[in-house]
Amino acid sequence: MLEKIDQLRERATADLQAVNDPEALEQFRIQYLGTKGGLKALMGLMKDVPKDQKRDFGQNANALKQELTAAYEDKKANLGETSAQASGHGPLLDITEPPAPPVMGRRHIISQTIDELIEVFARMGFDHAEGPEVEDDYHNFVALNIPETHPARDPLDNFYLSDPFGPNPTLLRSQTSTVQIRVMEQTAPPVRIISTGRVYRPDEHDATHYSMFHQVEGLYVDKHVSMVDLKSTLIQFAKAMFGQDADVKLVPSYFPFTEPSAELYVKMDLGKGLEWMEIGGCGMVDPAVFEHVGYDPEAWTGFAFGLGIERLAMRKHNIQDIRWLFENDVRFLRQF
Ligand code: DAH
Repeated sequence: MLEKIDQLRERATADLQAVNDPEALEQFRIQYLGTKGGLKALMGLMKDVPKDQKRDFGQNANALKQELTAAYEDKKANLGETSAQASGHGPLLDITEPPAPPVMGRRHIISQTIDELIEVFARMGFDHAEGPEVEDDYHNFVALNIPETHPARDPLDNFYLSDPFGPNPTLLRSQTSTVQIRVMEQTAPPVRIISTGRVYRPDEHDATHYSMFHQVEGLYVDKHVSMVDLKSTLIQFAKAMFGQDADVKLVPSYFPFTEPSAELYVKMDLGKGLEWMEIGGCGMVDPAVFEHVGYDPEAWTGFAFGLGIERLAMRKHNIQDIRWLFENDVRFLRQF
């Protein structure tokens, strides 16, 4: 019986010596070390070994198994080295090779767009102001001349944080126009600011709507400000942002806090060819708003605007769905 072990050793050693490529090595593994290989068969003979020889047989068979396994591993390492050398790559482990560079994070495209807005408007003389995201209904509605009966105040169209019919309700602001009021309450005219930040509305999500988004608000108050100033500021801004040949237009509209009012449109492609897309509202500050903040409406004039930052970024970077901005898929975010 012990002879069988020696025979297997001889055959296996000879075969392994002849192996000189990975395929042949794999054949060797299957033939000797595999689940249906020679070693397994040898162990299967155990039941036929006379009782007094079982121990000896077992020890020898196990020794052979370890021997062949070690020889196999050696061969495998040698083959790897020679094939790597043959193909000109040198030894398998090159300790002088620099490590893969770490994957760096980056600013979100909305944050990058906000930086750009602040810079573009700074060049036109606008300071940057900030206001709270949790607002009271005085700053979100009342001071902006939005009457109690106005549909914009509907509890179903806002995220109220307290009873909308109780005293001085609070809500997540639905527009950054709130910051116009806060700035004018604290600053004497003239005023020239923009404000950027999040706003919240319970809108259904689709390619161009999301329940949280960002706006850039602008306010310009001085003597003799006219609609021409508003128009040239916005057109100049749009060209700086999108390029000289961008198609933009102003269309008459209505907002309670401006008179007259307009909407700004840009041509963009959301996958169905070029279409006009509304990117925000604007107008001449309504005298009623000046009265709320204690500015003399006879002495001061102004314009204001509020634009959707997501839509600006979508137009600029050819992003066809607002939802991609908030899914946090790095394959998307890494592009910017
Ligand atoms: N607050 C308006 C909105 O969110 C946009 C807007 C319109 C802002 C006219 C303004 C403005 O400052 O003058 O729909």
